[in-house]
Amino acid sequence: MKKLLTAIVAAGIVALSASPAWSTDTELVTDNGGVESLRGHEEISDINKSESLKRVPRDQLPIDREYIQQPPLIPHTIRGYQVNLNANKCLSCHSFKNAGEMGATKISVTHFETRDGTTLSDVSPRRYFCLQCHVTQADAKPLVENDFKPVDSLQ
Ligand code: HEC
Ligand code: HEC
Repeated sequence: MKKLLTAIVAAGIVALSASPAWSTDTELVTDNGGVESLRGHEEISDINKSESLKRVPRDQLPIDREYIQQPPLIPHTIRGYQVNLNANKCLSCHSFKNAGEMGATKISVTHFETRDGTTLSDVSPRRYFCLQCHVTQADAKPLVENDFKPVDSLQ
């Protein structure tokens, strides 16, 4: 009986080492099932070349908005501007209090509204992290084809 058990355990070890789940066989580990993303077809274990950073000019003329609800693009560099729990660099120029003195555009009244439409006396939490919606202006090619045309009144 003891011999039989030993034999079974030994057979198990042989079987496991023949096709281990942690195999380094690249085919087994890396196949992403043919999933294709905007970056093309990349296997998970392949090192993906990162996109080169876009050059953001220090100051430039604002690019017009394409539609009324579009968050305006940021016409200046934002390198080193912190937005976190303790500080919001953007509001040091764009808040209602500071905008006049800093010569910056005031955040719009929509930025004081909560999700259920209550107007607060300060920026609503859902508008606190400015870069969720506003991005710097850069010469970036569209990732997908787009034939959007603004309405006549905005052209
Ligand atoms: C040192 C002051 C200053 C800081 C800090 C600053 N801005 Fe600005 N921003 C300006 C000024 C001044 C303008 C308008 C002048 C111009 O066209 O460059 C402007 C323009 C903008 C505009 C365009 C507004 C429009 O109606 O076209 C956006 C959007 C904007 N900033 C977002 C941001 C965000 C987001 C941050 C933080 C990451 C930020 N800004 C930090 C001074 C600042
Ligand atoms: C959830 C998305 C969102 C967030 C977060 C957000 N904005 Fe906006 N912002 C918009 C949209 C959309 C508009 C244009 C329509 C409007 O005025 O509401 C806008 C407009 C603006 C304008 C132009 C106002 C005007 O009267 O022309 C400024 C300046 C601005 N935002 C700054 C900021 C700053 C600074 C922050 C962070 C404190 C911020 N935004 C956070 C979406 C956002």
